[in-house]
Amino acid sequence: MSARTRTTGAVLAALAAAAVAVPGATPVAALAAEPRGEAATPGDSGAGDPYFPFAGNGGYDVRHYDLDLTYQPPAPEPAPLVGRLSGVATIDLTATQNLDRFNLDLRGLDVHEVEVNGRSAEEVDPPSPGEQVEGAAYWRVQNDAQRQWELTIQPRPRLTKGERARVVVTYGGDTTRPTDIEGALYGWVTTRDGAMVVNEPEGAMTWYPVSDHPTDKATYGFEITVPEGKVAVANGLPRRKPVTKDGWTTWFWKAPDQQASYLTTASVGDFTLHTSKTDRGLAVVNAVDKDLTAANAATTSASLARQADMIAFFEDTFTRYPFNSFGAIVDDDSVGYALETQTRPVYSRVASESTVAHELAHQWLGNAVSPELWRGIWLNEGWASYAEWLWAEESGGRSAQASFEEVMAIPADDPFWTVVVADPGPLGLFVAPVYDRGAATLHALRLEIGDRAFFASARRWLQRYDDSTATTEDFEAVCEKVSGESLDAFFDTWLRTPSKPPTP
Ligand code: TRP
Ligand code: ZN
Repeated sequence: MSARTRTTGAVLAALAAAAVAVPGATPVAALAAEPRGEAATPGDSGAGDPYFPFAGNGGYDVRHYDLDLTYQPPAPEPAPLVGRLSGVATIDLTATQNLDRFNLDLRGLDVHEVEVNGRSAEEVDPPSPGEQVEGAAYWRVQNDAQRQWELTIQPRPRLTKGERARVVVTYGGDTTRPTDIEGALYGWVTTRDGAMVVNEPEGAMTWYPVSDHPTDKATYGFEITVPEGKVAVANGLPRRKPVTKDGWTTWFWKAPDQQASYLTTASVGDFTLHTSKTDRGLAVVNAVDKDLTAANAATTSASLARQADMIAFFEDTFTRYPFNSFGAIVDDDSVGYALETQTRPVYSRVASESTVAHELAHQWLGNAVSPELWRGIWLNEGWASYAEWLWAEESGGRSAQASFEEVMAIPADDPFWTVVVADPGPLGLFVAPVYDRGAATLHALRLEIGDRAFFASARRWLQRYDDSTATTEDFEAVCEKVSGESLDAFFDTWLRTPSKPPTP
């Protein structure tokens, strides 16, 4: 018998008692004092990824995030480079177990209020192991040394497996320039004129409470209020025109496609927005900083002018473009790299043509199909780099074979060949071999199984794991199935051996 049928007798009474009825929610556990059947236990504080043990969380799946943000960028120099963010995150989730409590990831910012299904929780100190906490409560653990940043929520009544719940977190604080595990800027990176927001791999938690791992994809809505004159750009498309009142402008964006948290952005700056449509009907929204240097502005506009042709080429090579729109956010500040934020990559100071091709290819390879564990990063970067090679060849530049030969010209005693591409370690996510040996692996695979099986494997991969995540082993299985060849030894040599493979 399902929990639902067991408790229907109490439904009406409980609905009447509930402070707020959640539209579309199953009000099951709001009713029974305790879920029956399996005991309710805490959700895990991580998604089970050994590179980032506390990123993501267990016990629930987020369906949708609605982020209502207000942001005050820093004052002009010599004021410190510190902004002020306040937010209300409305998180619609489904419990995947009977839940005594569960975590969200949130780094640094203060929490002012937590509600679950309209019932407010009280802030308490973190309990010691085994200690019980009375009633609906929440607490924080912020352990920088362990990269453990958690907001734990104890809902009362407890959530029942399969139950939908709405969690509302009101939060905020100063924003600075956070760094990832290897010291690169990421997350909500405060800039003099706004913020460059790029979260890979687990920096989304620097600006909203989140299950910060690609295995928990969700849809997103954004309402971003900034001082009048500033432009806020997020993923997807505008839901309505911006609204200005009392010197503040609210920008509305809607990202209805499944999206991993590391691909979320809500960048703020002195942008000019350009909106267009490709011949094939895809909406393109570009946000280009007004303060790029003249040379960077010229390079950027030439690159962005090629986007429609690149989309057409990758659609013909891979599969249909996976999301509702594309475009670019080009900031005059720099985080030192570009990121493939979903539908709208972020570029530092300039968007070169090869980088635009790379970030566009990620929309398929990385965004529509994402790594199940961060050790699979080569599936993103190897593929996006290989797509750069393909675009160069397509647009009259160097052939993919020539790019491959350039990688194979690296001497066998170079440390480049010592990285295990299929497991580079959390400090090795973005090292050159992940990109270049990753791309070379794909070219070698193409030489091994032939063009037909190679591109058919790519398409099969994208169809089979669309809107989801997958591993290197899943990729190998697709290639073996499509080609009919055993590729164990091939992938061991290219991805798991810390020495140079023989040149095919
Ligand atoms: N994923 C980005 C790209 O290749 C690169 C990236 C993300 C990166 N974080 C980084 C590169 C940190 C260097 C350092 O499109
Ligand atoms: Zn990349």
